[in-house]
Amino acid sequence: MTNGESNYVAIIREICAEEGIALQSYSFDWIFRLTKNGKTGYILGYQFGLNAASVNSICCDKSAASELMTELGIPNIRHFLFASPSEQKFVGNCGFMEDLLLLLKKYGCLVVKPNDGTGGELVYKVRTPCELETAVFEIFRKAAYLAASPFEEIENEYRAVILDGEVRLLYTKKRPSLVGDGSKSVKELLLEKMSAGEYISPEEYPDGKTLDRIPGAGERVLLNWRHNLGQGAKAVPVRDEETRRAVGEIARGVYEALGVRFASVDVVETAEGLKVLEINSGVMMENFAGQDETSRRIAKEIYRDAIRKMMSI
Ligand SMILES: Nc1ncnc2c1ncn2[C@@H]1O[C@H](COP(=O)(O)OP(=O)(O)O)[C@@H](O)[C@H]1O
Ligand SMILES: [Mg+2]
Repeated sequence: MTNGESNYVAIIREICAEEGIALQSYSFDWIFRLTKNGKTGYILGYQFGLNAASVNSICCDKSAASELMTELGIPNIRHFLFASPSEQKFVGNCGFMEDLLLLLKKYGCLVVKPNDGTGGELVYKVRTPCELETAVFEIFRKAAYLAASPFEEIENEYRAVILDGEVRLLYTKKRPSLVGDGSKSVKELLLEKMSAGEYISPEEYPDGKTLDRIPGAGERVLLNWRHNLGQGAKAVPVRDEETRRAVGEIARGVYEALGVRFASVDVVETAEGLKVLEINSGVMMENFAGQDETSRRIAKEIYRDAIRKMMSI
């Protein structure tokens, strides 16, 4: 999909037309210049210029954000930084393999990912030194820095979109799953789902052992351990008041601690309670807006308010 074909670009164009804002597009709809009443503002990708540049950079840097949140008392999934060979000179040429292996030994299972990654790409769950080396090799082919975290069983993952301290949207990301009937194997259930027209990406196919297993009646088999909407998860609004309060409190804590005005805060529910997994200072609601008309309307209103703030109208 090109930028121009996205829900996002269509929404930005609609808002500007409705608000009487002149809009010019550059770089294949990646950059927009907005003008109204002599005021000019820029949107670049999913950045609306509402956050300070340094705050944006902190949010995009998973290990820096984790370090700061820990310092400021915000529960988070720890992300430890490791530099690729070409960047070692900036961190004292201390090498990375020994510390990574120690981390793996300590936690038994790690998640490694590009330190500035998005969309669940190049995110690996590793249990053995060999899996770790393979993942590190893949990540350092594309990224200069890597973040490693202890793997934590995630019961639920939530996304809170915050604008000036207000939680404007809260949904939970439901991973694609199959439900057993006590007689069909995972392979048969998967084929059934796919024959019914549901697309399941090859990345989500369970391994050979799981494919032959026969889940019990009503048993849920998750098809992906990652919660990215771009990796098959679905956004479901959170209605439970207590969850809304608790996740909202953490998201507002992030706003107060880092001063990030417009962001989506990913909060996960683990055995140890709620923790921030990551902060996205670019608010990307493409997959959410594409789910149905109501979601599109909600996303559009949030983007409208962000644009109104950036244009002071
Ligand atoms: N430490 C972890 N433990 C368990 N699951 C994780 C961990 N880190 C990431 N994940 C899973 O992987 C997904 C992608 O990781 P994330 O850090 O959000 O990277 P990205 O910025 O690429 O989306 C998350 O939505 C979550 O489901
Ligand atoms: Mg993510």
